[in-house]
Parts: sequence; structure tokens; C-alpha cells
Amino acid sequence: MISNNVSAYLPLLLNNRREDPICAYIYDINKLKKHVHYLKESLPSYCSLFYAVKANPDMKIIHALEEYIDGFDTASEGELNKILNLTDKPIIFGAPAKKDRELEYLSKGNLHAMNIESERDLHRLNRLGSVTGEKLPVLIRVNSTYQVARSSHKMTGVPTQFGIEEKRIPTLLNDLSDYPYLEVKGFHFHAMSNNLDALDHLEFIHSCREKIVEWKAVFSLPSATILNAGGGIGINYEHPEEPFDWETFTNGLQQMKALFTHEGIQLILELGRYMVADCGFYVAEVMDIKRNHGEHFALIRGGTHHLRLPAAWKMSHPHTIYPVDEWYDEPLPRPELREEFVTVAGELCTPNDLLIRKSYIERLKAGDLVVFSKAGAYGWTISHHDFLSHPQPEFHYLE
Ligand SMILES: Cc1ncc(COP(=O)(O)O)c(C=O)c1O
Repeated sequence: MISNNVSAYLPLLLNNRREDPICAYIYDINKLKKHVHYLKESLPSYCSLFYAVKANPDMKIIHALEEYIDGFDTASEGELNKILNLTDKPIIFGAPAKKDRELEYLSKGNLHAMNIESERDLHRLNRLGSVTGEKLPVLIRVNSTYQVARSSHKMTGVPTQFGIEEKRIPTLLNDLSDYPYLEVKGFHFHAMSNNLDALDHLEFIHSCREKIVEWKAVFSLPSATILNAGGGIGINYEHPEEPFDWETFTNGLQQMKALFTHEGIQLILELGRYMVADCGFYVAEVMDIKRNHGEHFALIRGGTHHLRLPAAWKMSHPHTIYPVDEWYDEPLPRPELREEFVTVAGELCTPNDLLIRKSYIERLKAGDLVVFSKAGAYGWTISHHDFLSHPQPEFHYLE
């Protein structure tokens, strides 16, 4: 599970080990570029590939994937400014609570479109358009009735803060003349996180298309040509051997091509997790091993303040043990485990700081490295770095 580039790099990391135990994020930029290039090449022409910056806003990552994708999904002024300084590719902005300054990027012409998440968004953007006298391009974010069963988080189909409830959309479209300074470019349906079922994702997109076709027919919306299906394609952290079946997914999209092109609808996929998860590795040195109440624990330099995902999702994060021969603390005894179940915990003072839960290992020694793979998305930036004021990990980029 460790990429070849990272395997080749770990001895260098160990050679440069100073006083402090190793704790680092390693991003395999070559792997990222190959992956994103492949994703883009395998999509049919009616489908545009956007990157959802929130998954990993690291500038080196954004830079690396920029040439392969068609645009960006941003969710804050901070994200927006990173992208505006880098590219002139289309940018979509969507956030449930928007500041006035963020809305103004649309009227300044910096954005391809902005998501409308509520009736108040409609009023505010229409007022903004009236100031300049221009029609502003918007996507209506729909909180649809569709639920994707195998996704881990549902943003729509259940009560959430996102989008406008599907049953209210017809009334809104009927009243569009009340908002003369808005141009509806299409609809946004981001509905889930971490869906692992390709057929279900196709079914979801199909149902979104049917809704758009119906609304276009009933309300005459010639400018509404975008179906933004959001992100939500998953990474199988717990069973990496059963990944989301991208080939089935893209074959299914190919089969829908005639329908989409006939109706002149552009499909946008705004992927985050699926684009960048696999390029990231979080490496942490084992500092101690012990037994409490019949269970084994390994303590690492680092923890869920650097990689929060396994704590947030109460799961074991995929990992590999990288054995290290040299023991830096001679003549003190070197703690070791063989053929046991072990829980790997971080350096925080909370029992929630667990990254691996009761996982079988052949052998583990203090001084070994635990390499967490699939750490490139929602890793570092969703974590609570400042808790306990430990030093931050190092960041390495393999190009
Ligand atoms: C509007 C929107 N689009 C795209 C994404 C990216 O989702 P994912 O990382 O699951 O692909 C998100 C994530 O929250 C989102 O809110």
C-alpha cells in the first residue's frame, strides 16, 4: 500500500532523523498527476472534471493537478484567492453561509457560477446584480429526495443545512421573474460523501438529469445547461481491496452520453476525496508499546491532531508497518510485539486519539514507522493541529 516513490523515500527520511522522532506528511506528486490525468482521460466529453479544493488546499497539490482538470469548486474566500492567483480555468463557488465580500466575486466576474443555497441567497445575489445591472450566473443547489445508500454522509434527502428542498424548486422556478438579475445556468446536486457504489452513483446522476429535463421543459430554462453532480465518490478505507469501481462508472457515463448531448447538458463532477486521497501518506514513528487491561497499545509521535479522519469516522486508517532495524535508544530495552492485536494511539491526552483499532500485526517495535496511506484528502486541514501544542509534522513532496 506504500507507493514505490514513498518506499524509496523512507530510508532518506530515516537517515535525516534528528533528535525528534519522525512525523511527516509525504505527498507523492507523480502518483497524483498520473491518477488525475487518468481520471480526466477516462471521462466522456460531455463531462467536466472539477477539483473540490476543500479536500486538500495545499498549493503544491493544487498546482500539480491544475493542468489536468477543467475547473475548481471553492467554498470560501481563502480558497477562492488561492485559485484566482493560479489559473484562469472556471471556478464555481458554493457555501451554505456566504459573506457579502464572497458574493461580490461573482459580480466582479471572477466566477463561472455561484451556488444558490437558499431563498435568501436569491435575494442577496439579485440585489447585487441590480447594482451593476448585469445578470449573475447561478446554479440552484437542490436538496433532492434521492439518497445514495452506501455513502457515509448524506447531505441531501435528509434534513441538512444544504441547498433548497426539491419540493420547493418548482415554485422558485415559477417565480424566477422576481429575480431579473440572475441567470440560472443549471443545478447543483452534491448529495453525499464517500459513496463506494459506482452503479448507485450512476443512478443518482441519472435521477438528477431527469429532474433537470423536467424543470427545463416545464419552466423554459434555455440557459440551464449545467448538471453539477458534486463530489462524493468514495475511498474504501476499511476494505481498500474493494475500491469504488471507476471503470464501471465511466462506462455508465459513456452510455448516458447520447442523452446528455441530445439535451445539451454538461455534467460537472466536483471531486475531492477521490482525486487526492491516494497521493498522501502520513508517517509516524512508534515511541512506545505497552499493555493495559489485556490489550496492546502502540504510541506514535503524532496522532489525530494531524490525521483526524480515523477518529472522526471511528475506524482503523489503512496503514503499513515499515520496520526499522536500528534502535536509537541503546542500551535501553526496545519494546516489541509479535503476532498480536494492537491499537495505535497518538500523543494526545484523550482516549479518542486512536488511528488503528485492534489490528493484527506480525511484528511491531518501538522505532518502527507506521505509514498511513490514503491520507491525501481531508487529512491535515480537517485536523485540530493546535490541541496540546505539539510541533507540526514535516511536509515532503515527491516529484
Ligand atoms: C459542494 C461540494 N462539492 C464537492 C465536494 C467534494 O466532495 P468529495 O470530496 O466527497 O468528492 C464537497 C465536499 O464536501 C462539497 O461540499
